[in-house]
Amino acid sequence: MSESPLLTRRPEWAALADHRAQWQTHLRELFAADPGRAERYVLRVGDLRVDYSKHLVTDETLALLQELATATGVFGLRDAMFRGEKINNTERRAVLHTALRAPRDAVIEVDGENVVPRVHRVVDKMTAFAKEVRSGRWTGHTGRRIRNVVNIGIGGSDLGPAMAYEALRAHTDRSLTFRFVSNVDGADLHEAVRDLDPGETLFIVASKTFTTIETITNATSARSWLLAGLDGEEKAVAKHFVALSTNEEKVTEFGIDPDNMFEFWDWVGGRYSFDSAIGLSLMIAIGPANFRELLDGFHVVDEHFRTAPAEANVPLVLGLLGIWYGNFFDAQSHAVLPYSHYLSKFTAYLQQLDMESNGKSVDREGRPVQWQTGPVVWGTPGTNGQHAYYQLIHQGTKLIPADLIGFARPVDELSDELAAQHDLLMANLFAQGQALAFGKTADEVRAEGVPEEQVPHRTFQGNHPTTTVLAPELTPSVLGQFIALYEHKVFVQGAVWGIDSFDQWGVELGKVLAKRVEPALTTGADVPGLDPSTAALVAVYRELRK
Ligand code: F6P
Repeated sequence: MSESPLLTRRPEWAALADHRAQWQTHLRELFAADPGRAERYVLRVGDLRVDYSKHLVTDETLALLQELATATGVFGLRDAMFRGEKINNTERRAVLHTALRAPRDAVIEVDGENVVPRVHRVVDKMTAFAKEVRSGRWTGHTGRRIRNVVNIGIGGSDLGPAMAYEALRAHTDRSLTFRFVSNVDGADLHEAVRDLDPGETLFIVASKTFTTIETITNATSARSWLLAGLDGEEKAVAKHFVALSTNEEKVTEFGIDPDNMFEFWDWVGGRYSFDSAIGLSLMIAIGPANFRELLDGFHVVDEHFRTAPAEANVPLVLGLLGIWYGNFFDAQSHAVLPYSHYLSKFTAYLQQLDMESNGKSVDREGRPVQWQTGPVVWGTPGTNGQHAYYQLIHQGTKLIPADLIGFARPVDELSDELAAQHDLLMANLFAQGQALAFGKTADEVRAEGVPEEQVPHRTFQGNHPTTTVLAPELTPSVLGQFIALYEHKVFVQGAVWGIDSFDQWGVELGKVLAKRVEPALTTGADVPGLDPSTAALVAVYRELRK
């Protein structure tokens, strides 16, 4: 198989490599040389104000990156995605999560069929169901109203609703309890249901394929738990289980009435699916109107990405900045640091979005790539991280570009005293951006009277790039805007790298091997092809658990 020659041999790439080779400028110098930088390097989309002034770029860098985007066909691929073309090469599928948030009168065709009416039919069905549950009209088998909703799913069928539920807690119906079960570790389901009453519990089994072993195993155990609590009444399943899936056959086989299935389609990737039927638990939590607001938030950024000029196109610019660091500064990772407790699961969500999409080492034609692709994405909410790993970002040896995310207002629910803490929270965000960018020179440290032998330890080199994204408040719309922003940023990077951002073959091998190894654990059966190291581990495991 030949190597992919395309990207690094492009003149646009060479121009960026030259530019990088000459790059010696510190952020302190960039700001000193350009008094308008703080105002000029700011973009807006929807309610988001995106400040990228603290990046190691000049107008020339940005122009060169834009040329790379043009040369690598980012805009053509973007338009093909929005048109519903089958840009997921290896699975021959359209990539149309943008259709999930399109308005009712939009026309988006897949194989000659307008998919928008289908999308809205499902949203309407979800709306009717969510209203039934929220109002108490949907009762369980024993006639009691549903008070607990347990979503069982994994990956894209868990992370989105779980993240958004946390993010929008202040907008949820607090009289209902929501739990999210994903891990095949029985402890996950145990902890989720141990204090729940089966008669008041609704299970939402979320699985695009309805074949994922973790989800089917947990759903089967949940069914047993329910039946054990309801005198083994099989009929109870119909009132306590609904499914979110593309696979009606498997849903029926599992014993869930297809009437209780909320469908989506193969052109919705798992990690791009929480605005599809996969969002049902979230819709029950926040209500249909808030869910619509969330979808509309996504749509604002979709339209921006589709139509905004390149230099003002936020996902494009953020994607290109990532290329600049990953490919020309050897940055290996990207930190996402939300200064919001409600965004505690946001980075975990982005890990799947980014790393499952762009963790690839062959191009769209299957040729090995000769350049770095997706970064390791990591991070946790702001001030907690400051007392843990920020040390390494400030004074370690690695370049770690970071996104600082903050909100002008805390949620309404907080008491006056707790709301007043918001300024302190945001002061930390701004301080970190400043410290990372500008650091503290040895002379500044000396001027504070620090003994000479401590000066190197207390010097901050600075020059660490950050993007600061501010929004007025964490609302459903703003959350939708954030997610769409990252979705399209990931798209841009995959397009430049020439990889298929929409398949995930890399997760398959582990799944297949787990199925093969399991009998060795449960029965001690000989598993052909087990390597000696793993065989020894299995033997120790069996010995220890006796
Ligand atoms: O981990 C692989 C994966 O296929 C993800 O892409 C997906 O989100 C997850 O498994 C769950 O898949 P499903 O929704 O089909 O259960």
